[in-house]
Amino acid sequence: MLFKQQALLRQKLFVLGSLAIGSLLYLVARVGSLDRLQPLCPIDGRFGPRSQDEIPLRALQFKRGLLHEFRKGNATKEQIRLHNLAIIIGVRKGGTRALLEMLNLHPAVVKASQEIHFFDNDENYAKGTEWYRKKMPFSYPHQITIEKSPAYFITEEVPERIYKMNSSIKLLIIVREPTTRAISDYTQVLEGKERKNKTYYKFEKLAIDPNTCEVNTKYKAVRTSIYTKHLERWLKYFPIEQFHIVDGDRLITEPLPELQLVEKFLNLPPRISQYNLYFNATRGFYCLRFNIVFNKCLAGSKGRIHPEVDTSVITKLRKFFHPFNQKFYQITGRTFNWP
Ligand code: A3P
Repeated sequence: MLFKQQALLRQKLFVLGSLAIGSLLYLVARVGSLDRLQPLCPIDGRFGPRSQDEIPLRALQFKRGLLHEFRKGNATKEQIRLHNLAIIIGVRKGGTRALLEMLNLHPAVVKASQEIHFFDNDENYAKGTEWYRKKMPFSYPHQITIEKSPAYFITEEVPERIYKMNSSIKLLIIVREPTTRAISDYTQVLEGKERKNKTYYKFEKLAIDPNTCEVNTKYKAVRTSIYTKHLERWLKYFPIEQFHIVDGDRLITEPLPELQLVEKFLNLPPRISQYNLYFNATRGFYCLRFNIVFNKCLAGSKGRIHPEVDTSVITKLRKFFHPFNQKFYQITGRTFNWP
């Protein structure tokens, strides 16, 4: 009898314990998601400039205010107003997905999950800016929406089209050492071919013209890595101040300082911290921590193992890119240690 009562008591305690843990987890997740929804920064400048020390208190006040508004039903998410938009225009394989996902850790950033390909795709572009706006996620007026479509950087018509939509838009470009980027680009295409059981050329064969033994500038993976050529086209429409260059190689090894520079460029208060980024040894990359319940790494298609490439080809490519890189540093004011 006593044994039965004890078992019953244990059962009750177990149910109560589970309920308590469940509620706690729910609360943590809820606070986390509220944090994500709530605008902690006045992008539209409603509160004016503030010092770093003030942020926690003001954020708290603002959060309370917003919760109050929620209860009253005044705060509504709405379809983006296009002046609250920033675009990651490229570069393909530079780390565009990692950059977008990491910026999305910021409570005042909302990401467009899919690549929209509005400005580079004639068919989409013909549908008009209202189509583009509707493709965007809902956001609060004080939030910045960010979309990434790396094809924008290299597509001829795009700068003019974006300029026509918003001439003061902020543009982000993430770059990697050009030869590594070209090999990464090749690796992605190679994987696609292998998936379809197709054979493909070796990188060396594509990157070097067999007739001249010089770098093959017709090969798209090479052309994309001539960053300065593409940037110069953009500069016909936008001043350099409207661009921010992100170091894609550093984003891999040391993401936080790169993200802090972007926060500054977008006039966002510093919210992304080391807590939000943890190194996952199995993946070999930094992953994202939104709160104690929710974290994620990028998909396996990010961070592929590159095929080995003949060192003489690598040397030739690096020599080829060198003068273009120098020009790129000069124009952007950001110098990289590319060989
Ligand atoms: P590799 O696959 O060559 O390693 P994009 O998103 O523009 O296609 O860029 C893909 C690249 O992002 C990957 O190239 C990878 O190196 C880089 N990257 C940067 N940070 C990453 C992260 N935290 N997780 C996975 N990949 C990351």
